[in-house]
Amino acid sequence: MRIDFQINGDDISIEVDPAKPLLWVLREDLGLTGTKYGCGVAACGACTVHLDGEAKRCCVLPAEAVAGRAVTTIEGLAAKGEPHRVQQAWIDARVPQCGYCQSGMIMAAASLLAKTANPTDAEIDAAITNICRCGTYPRVRAAIRALSEAV
Ligand code: FES
Ligand code: FES
Repeated sequence: MRIDFQINGDDISIEVDPAKPLLWVLREDLGLTGTKYGCGVAACGACTVHLDGEAKRCCVLPAEAVAGRAVTTIEGLAAKGEPHRVQQAWIDARVPQCGYCQSGMIMAAASLLAKTANPTDAEIDAAITNICRCGTYPRVRAAIRALSEAV
């Protein structure tokens, strides 16, 4: 099936199995390997991208669901070579440890902060349900807090 959609600002048209999860279209067909595979059942958040600006776990999202829509991956978050403000906050707060979960964490945080400039701890907890085996949760929250206070 031919599917037309936007990826990181570019219009593309690809021939792909409509049931193939977007995660694998990104990684295998488009070479965008920044989006990670963790669980494959929408439980861990490693595969979080933005779909029309909303955080979305794409390991269970069939390719056909993105027809006509805009997908942003971690590769597309920075503009003109400058880190996105969430990426910069992550650097400043030294959030990542192994880094495996962090693409998804950053995409979830960017989506939250785009909608809610100054989220409460409860709103952070509700929006950032990504799993981090390294336990970076306190620094994730600190980085989001720093961005909130900068508003
Ligand atoms: S790989 Fe998609 S939520 Fe875990
Ligand atoms: S930084 Fe290692 S899994 Fe999150």
